[in-house]
Amino acid sequence: MAIANLAKTSRNQYDEVYSQWMQNPETFWMQAANSLDWKRRPNQALFDQNAPLYGWFDDGLINTCWNAVDRHVVNGSGDQVAIIHDSPVTASQRFITYQQLLDEVSHVAGAMLERGITVGDRVIIYMPMIPEAIIAMLACARIGAIHSVVFGGFASAELAIRISHCRAKAVLSASCGIEPNRVVRYKPLLDAAIDLADHKPEFCAIFQRETELADMVAGRDIDWDSMKKDAAPADCVPLPGNHPSYILYTSGTTGRPKGVVRPTAGHAVALHWTMKNIYGVQPGEVFWAASDVGWVVGHSYICYAPLLAGNPTLVYEGKPVGTPDAGAFWRVIAEHDVRVLFTAPTAFRAIKREDPNGRLLRTYDLRRLRALFLAGERADPDTIVWAEKYLGVPVIDHWWQTETGWAIAANPLGIELKPVKPGSPSLPMPGYDVRVVDDEGHAKPPGELGTLLIKLPLPPGTLSTLWEADTRYRESYLAKFPGFYDTGDAGMIDKDGYIFVMARTDDVINVAGHRLSTGAIEEVLAEHPDIAECAVIGVRDALKGQVPLAFICLNAGVSTTHADILAECVSRVRDRIGPVAAFRQTTIVERLPKTRSGKILRATMAKIADGESFTLPPTIDDPAIIDEIRRALEGLGYPKNT
Ligand code: COA
Ligand code: AMP
Repeated sequence: MAIANLAKTSRNQYDEVYSQWMQNPETFWMQAANSLDWKRRPNQALFDQNAPLYGWFDDGLINTCWNAVDRHVVNGSGDQVAIIHDSPVTASQRFITYQQLLDEVSHVAGAMLERGITVGDRVIIYMPMIPEAIIAMLACARIGAIHSVVFGGFASAELAIRISHCRAKAVLSASCGIEPNRVVRYKPLLDAAIDLADHKPEFCAIFQRETELADMVAGRDIDWDSMKKDAAPADCVPLPGNHPSYILYTSGTTGRPKGVVRPTAGHAVALHWTMKNIYGVQPGEVFWAASDVGWVVGHSYICYAPLLAGNPTLVYEGKPVGTPDAGAFWRVIAEHDVRVLFTAPTAFRAIKREDPNGRLLRTYDLRRLRALFLAGERADPDTIVWAEKYLGVPVIDHWWQTETGWAIAANPLGIELKPVKPGSPSLPMPGYDVRVVDDEGHAKPPGELGTLLIKLPLPPGTLSTLWEADTRYRESYLAKFPGFYDTGDAGMIDKDGYIFVMARTDDVINVAGHRLSTGAIEEVLAEHPDIAECAVIGVRDALKGQVPLAFICLNAGVSTTHADILAECVSRVRDRIGPVAAFRQTTIVERLPKTRSGKILRATMAKIADGESFTLPPTIDDPAIIDEIRRALEGLGYPKNT
C-alpha cells in the first residue's frame, strides 16, 4: 500500500515540534514523560512486541492520582483550588482545594480497599456532574481499580450492559441528577440495571443529594458520606505503565458498545503535554470543559488533564441555555475567571439560537478568556464565525475520538496559533500521522475525500485495545488497512496540510455531540412485535447536528394503530437506550431500499433527507422504492431548510 505522508513541511514552531516528534517519537514522548512523578522511570517509551497492539512506558511505575492530586499538595499548592463546582440547577457553588481533594479521594479509596476492591477490579461510576464523580474516578486511580463511567442520560439497560460486560465489583453512584425539566432519579435506574445485569456488583456506594434522597438496599448499598468518614485514607499504589486506568464504553456499529481501554502512563503523559501545548494554559489558570464526565471529553478535560497540570477544573452542572438563560456560559466564565473554554459546537448553536445578537454577552466581562475549543462533532463555519465575532478570541476546532482520548488534529495554541480555516480542525498533532486513502488503501491527493487513517503506532494516551476483546479491536480498527488505525471518519487533507473531517464511514451518528449507534436503535426497534424490518439514519438538525430517524416496515395483518406503534417506538428507545438518543421520528414504509445482496441503503436515505445529491448504486434492487422513501421523508418535513 503506497500512502504518501501529507504532513506540512514549512519551517515554523508548529512544524518544528511536529517534525521533532516525527524524527524521533520515542525521545519526544520520553521528554514529555519527564514532567511527571514516577515511582520507577520507564527505560523505554514504545513497546512493540505485540504489534499491531502497542504499549507506552510499560516498564515504568506511576500513579495518576499522585500526579493529579498529591504532587500539588507536596509541592505546596494544597490551598489552591482544584475543583470549582458551579451548579445553576441547585443554585450552589463549591470550591475544593488540592488538600481537600486529597482528603476526600484518599478516604474514598480507603473505603473501597476495606471492601475488597484491589488493583484491576472494575468499578462503575454512575454520577451526575458533581465533584464526587471526579473524586470517585481519582479514588479508583489511586488504588489501581479500573473505573468505567456511565453517562447519566443512558437508560438502565445500557447501564446493565456495562456492569455485566466489565463484571463490575462495585458501583459508585448518587441519588439523583438534575435536568432543567426534571429530577433524574439515578437510584431506581441503578436498581433496575442491577436486576437486568447478569453480573451483580458486591456493593454500591450512594452519594445522597439533598434534592432527592434514595432508598437503600440493605446489605448492598452504603451511604457515601459514612463510608468515607469511617475509612482510613489509602496511599497511592504504583502501577505499571500499561495498567488499564479506565474502560469507557462507546458506540460502535452494533448495539454492543465497545469498551475502550486507556493505559495508565501514556494517558497521564499525553494529557499533561496537551494542557500547555494545545490549550496554552499555565498552571493555576482555570480550565473549563463544558461536557459531562460520562464522555471522553469529561474524562480527559474535566477530570484528568487539568488536575495533572495544576489547573483548577470547572465542573458545571447546567446547560448552555435554560439554566437560566443563554448567558449561563458567560456568567460562569466571568465569575470563575475561565481562561480556556472547551465545549461542543451544539452548545454554541443553542446559545446563538436564543441570543443571536449576543445581547447577554454584554452583561459580563469576558476579557480574560483566551480561547474557545470546540470538538465532538463537525464545527459548522457559521457557529465558528459567530463565536469569534462575539467572544473576540480564537475559536479552535479540534478533532478527536473516545478511542484517542485527546486531539488528533488541532490548532495548538500553546505552540503556535496557525491561521484558522473554518470547517477544519487544522493540523495533525505530534503523535498522529494522518493519511487519506481510498477503499483499497491508496493515498488520495490533497483536497480529495477518502477514509482518514492514522499510521501506527498511535501515540501515548490512546486506546491500547477493547476490554477483553483484542480480536474485535483488531477487526474494527486495524484489519482493513494494515499498519494503520482506521478512524471511521471520512475527510480530506488540503494542500496546506489542514485536515477536514466530513462524516463517519460507519453507522455511528453524532447527536448534540453525543455518539450513538444507529445499529443499537435498530436493535431496539426490531424487537417490536409488529415491526418486520427497520433502518435508522442520522438526519441533519440545526441544533443537534444530527438526530436519528427510523423507517419501519410492519408485519402483515398488524392490528395496533399506526399512531400507537410510532409512539411505542419512541418510548422503547427512550427506555432501552435513554433520553440522550433524542429519538422522536419514525415513519412507516412498505419496503426499504436495498442492494441486490440485501444491504440497506442508509447513506442514500440520509442524503435524501438532507437534500443532498446522490447516485443510486447500480446494484439497487428496485429503484422505485426511492420515491416512497422521498415521500415518507417529505411527510416528516425533510429535506429541511437548515
Ligand atoms: N442525565 C439524564 N438525562 C440527560 C442527561 C443526563 N446527564 N443529559 C441529557 N439528558 C436528557 C435530557 O434531559 C433530554 O431529555 P428530554 O428528552 O426529556 O428533554 C435528552 O437527554 C436529550 O438531551 P440533550 O441532548 O442534552 O438535549 P437538550 O435538548 O436537553 O439540550 C443542548 C440541547 C444543545 C443544550 C445540549 O445537548 C447540550 O448542552 N449539549 C452540549 C454537548 C455536550 O456536552 N457534548 C458532550 C461532548 S463534548
Ligand atoms: P466521540 O468518540 O464521542 O468523541 O466521537 C468521535 C467522533 O465525533 C469522531 O469520530 C468524529 O466523527 C466526530 N468528531 C469529533 N470531533 C470532531 C471535529 N472537530 N470535527 C468533525 N467531527 C468530529
